Parts: sequence; structure tokens; C-alpha cells
Amino acid sequence: MFIWEYLAKQAGRCYDVVNGEKMMSNRMIETNLIEEDVRIEGSLRPQMFIDYIGQEKIKDNLKVYIEAAKQRGDALDHVLFYGPPGLGKTTLAGIIANEMGVHMKVTSGPAIEKPGEMAAILNNLQEGDLLFVDEIHRLNRQVEEVLYPAMEDYAIDIMIGKGPTARSIRLDLPHFTLVGATTRAGLLTAPLRDRFGMIHRLEFYTVDELRIIIRQSAKKLGVEIDEKGAEELARRSRGTPRLANRILKRVRDFAQVKYDGKITEKVAKTVLDLMDVDKMGLDHIDRNLLTTMIEKFKGGPVGLDTLAAAIGEDAGTIEDVYEPYLIQNGFLNRTPRGRMVTDLAYRHFGLEIPT
Ligand SMILES: Nc1ncnc2c1ncn2[C@@H]1O[C@H](COP(=O)(O)OP(=O)(O)OP(=O)(O)O)[C@@H](O)[C@H]1O
Ligand SMILES: [Mg+2]
Repeated sequence: MFIWEYLAKQAGRCYDVVNGEKMMSNRMIETNLIEEDVRIEGSLRPQMFIDYIGQEKIKDNLKVYIEAAKQRGDALDHVLFYGPPGLGKTTLAGIIANEMGVHMKVTSGPAIEKPGEMAAILNNLQEGDLLFVDEIHRLNRQVEEVLYPAMEDYAIDIMIGKGPTARSIRLDLPHFTLVGATTRAGLLTAPLRDRFGMIHRLEFYTVDELRIIIRQSAKKLGVEIDEKGAEELARRSRGTPRLANRILKRVRDFAQVKYDGKITEKVAKTVLDLMDVDKMGLDHIDRNLLTTMIEKFKGGPVGLDTLAAAIGEDAGTIEDVYEPYLIQNGFLNRTPRGRMVTDLAYRHFGLEIPT
């Protein structure tokens, strides 16, 4: 297959299925879950702590609490994970269930519309079960209120009857663990946040950690990759395991068709250049964001909404998806007066740093 045909086909296959809506996305390094990930993530997702690379502080902490809960024979305290997409929140929820030896029920904020639906889910849990609520910031207020007594006292209050004779009765629930995940911790209400016993922010992964993840995934997929090849993919994966796995899979397809199947540094470089992911892991959207700031706003400070309008992106997406990586890697700063690009950004584009 001709290389451009292949790329066009790949781009056309990028659907954002996260919110149930199918949105076209041409972004190779889209960190949200897209259709092609679904096929590989199942097989690559670590099942136990031992396969879960990085996030050491979170793992250490969880291990202690899990051990303690198991000794007491009780459910683990409720846990909230937050951080950019693709860093392993859902994976951690599954690992907790496996390590605790309990069942995991999965739902998400936008999927539950009525308080009664939440009550039914809670009422169907078994002793010790783990309830995973993805995108928990998107629960509506009434549904959320069902969770308050459930999380605090393992109980739900149900209204019986109507009008003056209505009364509320309390139903006991089994002891369960709620694991919530969100990319937007700032949108969580205080009463909900306060009911989590543990709140963990997931960090971007280092190149070394990603290299290990890539080698681990390559082994599972039966792909041959050398040390330099793994390093190159790791450096361009934006600190994100989901992306590392996606890039690995694409480069594998390429290596199969165009080379002898083995992923070397040369193969990795060639393919990633073609995919428009540069050596710092930035793609056209990142570069557009930074260059727009430089060209239109003299490098900033520029307000988030103004910037969003200038590049035609949603402010929330910039804040949660694009910006964290750029800030972490020193391309961008958040100041009280707005966003500013750094000297590193100017250097990255080979531009002169203004005095
Ligand atoms: N620590 C890790 N070690 C190895 N692989 C990982 C790790 N974290 C994540 N992965 C891989 O990355 C993929 C994406 O992770 P996951 O779905 O848990 O991300 P997420 O934080 O839930 O993302 P989202 O916010 O989009 O729901 C997983 O399928 C898994 O293969
Ligand atoms: Mg997830």
C-alpha cells in the first residue's frame, strides 16, 4: 500500500468514542480513546500491579491500603483518580479489583441520567464490589446526591409515596468501593470530592518508563523491536502509555509492509516523521498552538478563551488535553495574566528569542 494512502486511511479511522459520540479526529497523538485503541487495549492492559509501570507513589500507597483492607476483611476506601487521558486511570481501577479479588462494575457519569438508575446500580452490588465511575465529573446533581449517603454510610434513601404521606426510608447497601476517574478534577463538586478517602493525580510517564511499557507491549504483540527503536517511540509518546501503544502498533504495521518487520531506530524515525509527530512528541495541533501564541500574541500573555478562539479549539480541551504536556515539558507557562510561551518554545521552532 502506498504510504499516503495508508496514512489517510489511518486518519479516517480516528474516531473519538469516549463520550459515545463519534467525532472525527485527525490527530495522530489524540490521547483520548479512539476506535483502533479499543482493539488492542484489552490485550495490553496490565492486570496486576507488577505489570503496571510507573506511578510509583500511587502504587505504593494503594498497596498499603489494599493490604490493610484485606486484613480487616473490609472494602477498600473510595478512590478518585484524575489526570490527562490515557495515563492509566481505568487500568488502575481494574488492577485494584484484581488485587482485592472482587468484581468490578463499570459505568460513567453521562450514562446515568436519573437518581433511580444510580440507586439500582448500587443496590445490585455485592459485598466488597468495586464500582468504577468514569468521567465522574459529568454526573448530574441529583444522581450525585444518591452517592453521598452511599459513600459515607453505605446506604441509600428512597422516597415512598407522594405528597403529604411521602416518607423516606433508608436501605442498607453492602460495603463497596467507589473508584472515580476524571480528566477534569476542577469540575468535581466539593461534597463529592470530600467523600473520597484517597485522591490521586496521575503523572506523565518518563521516557524510561514508556520504553519499558513499549517493550512489554511489543512482547505481547509479538513484535520485534530493538533498544534504540523503543527509545525513539518512547520519546515521542507524549508521556502517555495509550499513545505509546498506538504508535507501536502503527509502526509495527509499517515495519511489516515496508521493512522486514523489525522496529529499529531508523524505522521508528521514518514513520513518526511521516505521522507528523516531532522529536519532542509534539504534533500539528501543539505546534499550531505555540506558533499562534508567538505570531499573533507576541508569545503572550494571552487568555485561555482568546487562545481557544484563535486556534478554533474548545478552551476545556486546551486546558485538559494539550496544555498539561506543554507545561510539564517547559513549552508553556500559566501566569495570572494568561498563557505565555517559553524560550524553549522559541528554540524548538528555531526562532529568535525576543528580548
Ligand atoms: N502504568 C502503565 N503500565 C503499562 N501500561 C499502561 C499503564 N497505564 C496505562 N497503560 C496502557 O495505556 C492504556 C490506556 O490506559 P487507561 O485506559 O487506563 O487510561 P485512562 O487514564 O483511563 O484514560 P481516559 O482518561 O481516556 O479514560 C491501557 O490500555 C494500557 O494498555
Ligand atoms: Mg479511562
